[in-house]
Amino acid sequence: EARLRRKLLDLHEAATSFYEEQLRGPEGAIAREYLAGRGLDQKGLEKFRIGYSPDSFNALRDRLSSMADAETLRASGLFSQKEHEDGTLGHVYDRFRKRVMFPICNESGRVIAFTARTLETGDKAGAKYINSPETPLYTKGQVLFNLDKARTAIRQTEFALLVEGQMDCISVFLRGIQNVIATSGTAFTEHQVNLLRRHTSNVAVNFDPDAAGANAAEKSISLLTEEGFTIKIVTLEDGLDPDRFIRERGVEAYVAAIRGARRQSDYLIERARQMFPGATGDQKVKAMNYLLPHIKRIPEALARGQFAHDAAQK
Ligand code: CTP
Ligand code: MN
Ligand code: MN
Ligand code: MN
Ligand code: MN
Repeated sequence: EARLRRKLLDLHEAATSFYEEQLRGPEGAIAREYLAGRGLDQKGLEKFRIGYSPDSFNALRDRLSSMADAETLRASGLFSQKEHEDGTLGHVYDRFRKRVMFPICNESGRVIAFTARTLETGDKAGAKYINSPETPLYTKGQVLFNLDKARTAIRQTEFALLVEGQMDCISVFLRGIQNVIATSGTAFTEHQVNLLRRHTSNVAVNFDPDAAGANAAEKSISLLTEEGFTIKIVTLEDGLDPDRFIRERGVEAYVAAIRGARRQSDYLIERARQMFPGATGDQKVKAMNYLLPHIKRIPEALARGQFAHDAAQK
């Protein structure tokens, strides 16, 4: 088991180098252009070891095949495999093709998986992001993207800035806000809470200002509250996600938005008022019913009482 894990780490290291090379090479021109258009410079690409998977079913396989047997290659999650009609398995082939490759690291900074973004737009794009499957190295929901690079800044600033997307995280980090981590689009899990707890108990949540982001924010608030964290909610104007906001409005505006983050009680009361507008008794009851579970979840009596008081008033 330990030997397999070491081998899989070696394969991921080699794959990361391969994708980095490909990004620099002739095939990578399309990806370099795309990344430049998203405001990533050479330093940023190197810092996050961003790469490119070429448009080929065997480029990575040919590179790695001398390092490990077929079974180990299969276990790495870097390859897919056809199943024949008689149930037998065919050759492994490259899982990631023609995509920008973002390495996902464990807390020690070793690459354990990838998330891969398409360069296509429109209908033929398929999934915008595809991720490594679960492997002995990687379980989705047990990793916080960028925790390896953010941990020092999280301790210094005494809080973590939590965003949804890898691109949000990278973009914000490279502009100097280094205590930023990403859930990678999934709901925050208890395992991730426990990773974070070792570094801080304060979180500023800045998910996308859309329905999916609001739902994910609400779930994360619930879980973090139960686990004793102090939470603030960052809201950005004009439907911008952190990546676009910081690029279009600048770092200072983004810092101001973080400084202006609302307490979770204010955020949730405002959300209740939006979901149940109007002053009829019925709407008030619905708003209060929506808020009650959130209020009950606050472990600390004084804060819980204050939340209940504010909710009733508003
Ligand atoms: N995600 C995913 N699979 C998808 C869409 C999203 O895994 N098909 C995850 C990715 O981790 C992504 C995050 O959810 O970073 C947020 O999704 P979304 O807001 O759609 O992506 P953005 O970060 O805005 O992506 P981009 O800026 O690259 O368009
Ligand atoms: Mn987004
Ligand atoms: Mn989104
Ligand atoms: Mn628990
Ligand atoms: Mn985005």
